[in-house]
Amino acid sequence: MEKTKYGAVKIDGKKVATEIKEEISNRVAELSGENKKLPHLAIIMVGDDGASQTYVDNKVKAAKSVGFHYTLLRFAETISEEKLLKHIDQINQDDDVDGLIVQLPLPDHISVERVTEMIKPEKDVDGFTNQNFGSIVSEEQGILPATPFGVMELLKRYDIDTTGKHCVIVGNSRIVGAPLSMMLAKHGKATVTVCHIHTKDLASHTQQADILLVGVGKPGLISADMVKEGAVVIDIGTTKIDDDTRPRGFRIVGDVVYAEVASKSSFITPVPGGVGPMTIACLLLNTLQAAERRISQE
Ligand code: GUN
Repeated sequence: MEKTKYGAVKIDGKKVATEIKEEISNRVAELSGENKKLPHLAIIMVGDDGASQTYVDNKVKAAKSVGFHYTLLRFAETISEEKLLKHIDQINQDDDVDGLIVQLPLPDHISVERVTEMIKPEKDVDGFTNQNFGSIVSEEQGILPATPFGVMELLKRYDIDTTGKHCVIVGNSRIVGAPLSMMLAKHGKATVTVCHIHTKDLASHTQQADILLVGVGKPGLISADMVKEGAVVIDIGTTKIDDDTRPRGFRIVGDVVYAEVASKSSFITPVPGGVGPMTIACLLLNTLQAAERRISQE
C-alpha cells in the first residue's frame, strides 16, 4: 500500500475504481460471448450546468469503456416536469434499458422528489428512490446509492474493519451522509454519529472518530486539530475552484486540509482520486447487477 509523503496510507480510489471497471469489462466480455444483451445505461440531463456536464461526460465515458450500451437524453432547462416524467416513464417501460439516472441538480420548477420517485426502483442505479433507500435496512436486496457504496467498498478493499468502531459523519445529505450512516451502522456494525450544519462544537465530535467521513462541500472544513491521531479519514467533498493554471481552468478540492491531516491519520483519501472515481465505478456495478437480474429472469 502506497503511503502519502505525510505518513498516512493513501486510499487510492482511482486504482480501486480501475480494478472494478476491469472486473465489469471482463463480465461484459463473457456476456457478449454468450450472446446475451449487454447492460444498457440511460442518462438524463436537464439544462447545461457546467459541473453536471463534466459528471455526465465522465459517466458516458466510463459506460463506453466497460462495453455497456448507453443512451444520453438531453433536455432544455425549460422542459416541464410533466414532460420529463413522461420520458422517465417511457424508459421505465423500455425493456432494453437496465439502468436510468437523472443527473442532479434539476431546475427549480422541477421536483427532485417527484422525478426520483418516478424511476422504477429496479432501474434506479443511483439508488436514490425511497424504496432503495429503505432497502439499506431491509432484508430485501435493493440498489445501494453509488457514493456511499463506493466508500464502503474502499473500506473493505483496504481491510479497514468498521465493527464496533466510532464512525463520525459530517454532512447528512439524502444522497451521501444519510444513507452512509445507515450502511455503516447496519452493514458495517459501527457506532455512528451524524453531524451537520446545526451541530454545535463540531470538533468535539470529529475528535472522537476512529473513522471520520466528511461530505459537506466546504474546502478547509477539517483541519488536523479536529482529527484523532491514527484515525481513518474519508473525504467525500467535491468543490470546483477556478484555477487558471489548470488546463480545464478549474480544480476539484475536498473538505479536508490534506497535508496536515495526512500527517496525523493512518489512512486518507485524496481529492481528486479518492471517493470520486468510486462513485462512477459503483454506478456501473449497479447497472451490471440490474442487467444480471434481467438476464436471470430471461
Ligand atoms: N449530482 C451530484 N451527484 C450525483 C449523483 O451521484 N447522481 C446524480 N444523478 N446526480 C448527481
